[in-house]
Amino acid sequence: MKLGVNIDHVATLRQARGTSYPDPLAAAKICAKAGAVSITVHLREDRRHIQDSDVYLLSKACPIPINLEMANSEEIVRIALDVKPAEVCLVPEKRQELTTEGGLDVIGNFQALEKTVKRLQDNGSVVSLFVEPDEKIIASSAKTGARVVELHTGSFCDATDPEKAERLLQKLIAGAKCAHALGLQVNAGHGINLDNITSILKIPHLDTLNIGHSIIARAVFQGLENAVREMLAAMSEYKA
Ligand code: PXP
Repeated sequence: MKLGVNIDHVATLRQARGTSYPDPLAAAKICAKAGAVSITVHLREDRRHIQDSDVYLLSKACPIPINLEMANSEEIVRIALDVKPAEVCLVPEKRQELTTEGGLDVIGNFQALEKTVKRLQDNGSVVSLFVEPDEKIIASSAKTGARVVELHTGSFCDATDPEKAERLLQKLIAGAKCAHALGLQVNAGHGINLDNITSILKIPHLDTLNIGHSIIARAVFQGLENAVREMLAAMSEYKA
């Protein structure tokens, strides 16, 4: 199983002061050196962290592929078509949210998503849909033509009640099996940290985990390279 690192919060620190540092490209290079296979950046409509210029610069100079996380909005889709990132992860987006709060309503927005998946994949980007581990939503995701689903692990990772956590983990396991059976690549992400990673490893068929906040938070004390390496070490026992 592979690790993709979301470096949005490197840009969050930079935007907090309007400085030129810390530099997301420098962070991406460190993540690559430490063994990450891809870099995720979320170009939000409100541009609260990652800026258009970051996306263009990373697409030229990042040593590993870019996974561009984005809403299905025409303005951002046009940027993705111009940049041609290796992967695009479509997510729901609300202006006021702290972070992406739920999976895509693939059934309710099927036609719009199907159209965008086709535009992006015809342009050379592999498209991933960020979804709750629900079999109907996953089946609908496959029908859009997207080649990947990223299972939303946030509810499981945030659950404090052990019974609830176990129920949510079983849903993730069932969701992964369903997506794999439909021929989809299975990624997962949101809220994953060194405390819950052992449980996440029980989800079968995982190709890539996309992790951001906990790694950047650990980096404050450990340094970014160590923070990426310690997550990779925690993932190393995975048996798909
Ligand atoms: N995957 C997706 C689709 C996300 O929206 C996020 C948060 O930006 C992540 C992964 C990473 O989540 P976290 O920062 O909680 O590790």
